[in-house]
Amino acid sequence: MNKYIELIKQNIGACGYNACVVTFGCQQNEADSEKLRGMARAMGYDIVYDVKDADLIVVNTCAVREHAELKALSTIGQYKHLKAKNPDMLIGVCGCMVAQKHRVDELKNSYPYVDFSFEPSSLDRFPEILHGVFNQKGRMFSLGENARDISEGIPVLRESDSKAWVSIMYGCNNFCSYCIVPYVRDRERSREYRYVVEEVTELVKSGVKEITLLGQNVNSYNGGCTFAELVEKLSAIEGDFLIRFMTSHPKDVSDELVAAMAKSPRVAKHFHLPLQSGSDGILKIMNRHYDREHYLDNVKKLRTAMPDIALTTDIIVGFPGESDEDFEATLDILREVRFDMIYSFIYSPRSGTPAAKMENQVPQNVKSERMQRLLEVQNQISLEKNEEAVGKVLRVLAEGPSKNDSEVFTGRTETNKLVHFIADESCIGKFIDVKITRAEPFNLRGEIIK
Ligand code: SAH
Ligand code: SF4
Ligand code: F3S
Repeated sequence: MNKYIELIKQNIGACGYNACVVTFGCQQNEADSEKLRGMARAMGYDIVYDVKDADLIVVNTCAVREHAELKALSTIGQYKHLKAKNPDMLIGVCGCMVAQKHRVDELKNSYPYVDFSFEPSSLDRFPEILHGVFNQKGRMFSLGENARDISEGIPVLRESDSKAWVSIMYGCNNFCSYCIVPYVRDRERSREYRYVVEEVTELVKSGVKEITLLGQNVNSYNGGCTFAELVEKLSAIEGDFLIRFMTSHPKDVSDELVAAMAKSPRVAKHFHLPLQSGSDGILKIMNRHYDREHYLDNVKKLRTAMPDIALTTDIIVGFPGESDEDFEATLDILREVRFDMIYSFIYSPRSGTPAAKMENQVPQNVKSERMQRLLEVQNQISLEKNEEAVGKVLRVLAEGPSKNDSEVFTGRTETNKLVHFIADESCIGKFIDVKITRAEPFNLRGEIIK
């Protein structure tokens, strides 16, 4: 990889070219985009955040639901006129959407101004592909590479000085019947733990306060030790910082992990544990490998070990064959667990997955009605859960001014709740104590304790 970075740098370095990376999708993609920017900068580009200023645009796409793909395609469509103005501009597409042959064909045929694409498992080939485009003066579309060993040492340009993503594993082996991720991100592979420990140690030394370990299924990590052991090793690093991780699978929550979390003040007391459905029948067809009882058992273990832990989850509404009773079972378990927050999604058929071929698809209007009811039930619970924080003093990692008001700052509690408070820039990137004065369904308000 370094060879191509060097080769491009010799040509680009002095030209003052700008690169812009546009990101869709989950935190894995955010993390990958930081690596794309890191590589682009190493190749001699200046990094910009407005596509209008760019000579190279890389769109990092998501494929998890149809909506995500349509958004990416329409965004790419808007770049046609930018290229018309600047014919030297290069446009590349990467990420999960372009790990599917039909999407790559679509780009080749209907988006002639797109110069190259490469799938997530070829992220480290970005310089090589760009070099090919420059030198063969043709379009390049990389697809069907087998997942290779993990590349260590890819340059990273991180967005934040106080928070950092650290990927600990890539891919997924679970093949939930609705999900495209195993097809587009390939098989599971874990980074060796010594690289993870090294990276986190460096980050903490450089002043980073919050490290989020990323993977599709972090608790099946096996990079030379278990995930629980990795958490223990990272907790032993000296410094004032918090460790978060996502995402976990309910079938792989071990007692050792719960114990490692409970023991360490450096592990945030928040667990994101996607449930998907409260119906045992649907969970089985989803190929999730757990039932309602097993899920509730996890919740009990976590709350017994850490009474104040915040729990969040993902729910899919309208999976094929979901009956009224199945949906009621989901509402029931939400009322029983009382999650702090949920991320809910209307089921979106993904071509190539088993669920997309099932004949008993739920009509759109039923899906929408169920989504509405789900949100009503959960919003009330979220508000009540947030109200429990009112009057308490919580430690908050201050992030920066909110979008609408430069005096109102935002930050996150250890339980990952969003807090708004009046502050000035001096608080950015620091842990501060905030007394919570008001609760809303999606955030808290508070005052800094001097
Ligand atoms: N690896 C993680 C997250 C994967 S994608 C996990 O196992 O939890 C994030 C969420 O998107 C999933 O938890 C699921 O709720 C949702 N999702 C995935 N595929 C979907 C689909 N086809 N339609 C609707 N939601 C989907
Ligand atoms: Fe998709 Fe299931 Fe893998 Fe999560 S665990 S990425 S939902 S297949
Ligand atoms: Fe989307 Fe790929 Fe993440 S499909 S949710 S960007 S793993």
